[in-house]
Amino acid sequence: MKKTIKDYDIKGKKVIIRCDFNVPIEDGIIKDDNRIRQSLKTIRYARKEGAKVILLSHLGRIKTEEDKEKYTLKPVAEALSKLLRKKVKFINQTRGKEVEEAIKNMKEKDVILLENTRFEDLDKQKESKNDKRLGKYWASLGDIYINDAFGTIHRSHASNLGISKHLKSGVGFLVEKEIKELEKLTKNPKHPYTIILGGSKVSDKINLIKNLAKTADYILIGGGMAFTFLSAAGFNIGSSLCEKEEIPFCKELLDKYQDKIILPIDIITAKEIKNGVKTKERFVNEIEEDEIGLDIGKKTLEVFKQYIDDSKTIFWNGPMGYFEIKDFSKGTKGLCKIMSTAKAYKIIGGGDTARAVIEMGFAKDVNHISTGGGASLTFLEGVKLKALDIINEK
Ligand code: 3PG
Repeated sequence: MKKTIKDYDIKGKKVIIRCDFNVPIEDGIIKDDNRIRQSLKTIRYARKEGAKVILLSHLGRIKTEEDKEKYTLKPVAEALSKLLRKKVKFINQTRGKEVEEAIKNMKEKDVILLENTRFEDLDKQKESKNDKRLGKYWASLGDIYINDAFGTIHRSHASNLGISKHLKSGVGFLVEKEIKELEKLTKNPKHPYTIILGGSKVSDKINLIKNLAKTADYILIGGGMAFTFLSAAGFNIGSSLCEKEEIPFCKELLDKYQDKIILPIDIITAKEIKNGVKTKERFVNEIEEDEIGLDIGKKTLEVFKQYIDDSKTIFWNGPMGYFEIKDFSKGTKGLCKIMSTAKAYKIIGGGDTARAVIEMGFAKDVNHISTGGGASLTFLEGVKLKALDIINEK
């Protein structure tokens, strides 16, 4: 077990908490504040214990000066002030005099949020390339470092790994919870153990599939990535998405795990990807040359249901179709419904799947929705997470 914020006496101390406030913001309006809400427990605890709380986060990816306006953390400071019912002071700098003065003047329970750590990327990618001096500088601003940014735990950046090298460190309640939940999938999961994978690309999930296939009993595949598998299995997939270079990998998996990998048997096709187009229900051996497969069909859902109902542990990552368009969202919604009545321990990998499950109203029916997309997948690949690894065990 990693050291947590609870393992330190933080009264009167300057505690740097790295959060993941990478939330969708349009025209200054936060479209989904889930990640902000998930960070509250650690921030509230730090305040209750009398710490001076210094928050750091990234937002988006910063490549040009123009990106700075779109990706300022100012709206997050405002949202946090409301949620905490305490003014969060926003400093529109990532370092320098203003930052240092503000920290010097902090009182116990005060909360400060610095500007987006990735603004530093405009200078030779200092944040993302874990510039040593930047990590050391940020560490110099505090007494204790708490990493509660699960969504970024797979990155080795200055604001996580870099700071941890120089300060007493621990994890926050969110990271602690995420690890505990995801370990249910890696340390003796209850069987039958089913993995449901969707989304567009096989290439993003090669290592995940390789690692999980060893322990899982069933791997149900939908979404865009199913078509590369279907092509590897010898079906004509028309104009559907296909990663040709991954066909040999898919063939190998289909051979090795023929009883584990379950592919769609019917799909919804259209000739264009837009709302209101004419759609067709097709068995996978009926797809025509000019048709694009955009969702799984009803019969596939019936097949998937049999495996899901039989399972004791389920991990789901990736939508079953092009769910942003209503006509192609029925597979994902249907799967949410099936999942909602399943008795298994159910964990949802973040990103699009989390958004789909929350927006479709099924969040209450699953046991855990990870706040990390890439992070949860990297964890499940069995890859060493340096930003987590550096934190001492209790
Ligand atoms: C995420 O949204 O997955 C995390 O915040 C990490 O963001 P990144 O992929 O830009 O590093």
